[in-house]
Amino acid sequence: MDPVHGVKPIVIEETPGKKAYCQCGLSEKLPYCDGAHNRHATGLAPIVCDVAEPGKKAVCQCHRSGNKPWCDGTHSRG
Ligand code: FES
Repeated sequence: MDPVHGVKPIVIEETPGKKAYCQCGLSEKLPYCDGAHNRHATGLAPIVCDVAEPGKKAVCQCHRSGNKPWCDGTHSRG
């Protein structure tokens, strides 16, 4: 079943620093984690990573990318 927010990546102009990208799909601040995974007891956790360079990023929303948290095109391969 596809996530309720859709499977297409969220494209953002990202800034450097430590970021937590939502993996449960329930955050109200997508693509970032807002703690909803705990409030809804999903058992999931965000992917935390250090973004080194500013720039355009496509954050995976289908949760099937082989390069999470970034989109690798998997959502369009069915
Ligand atoms: S709110 Fe979705 S992983 Fe934290």
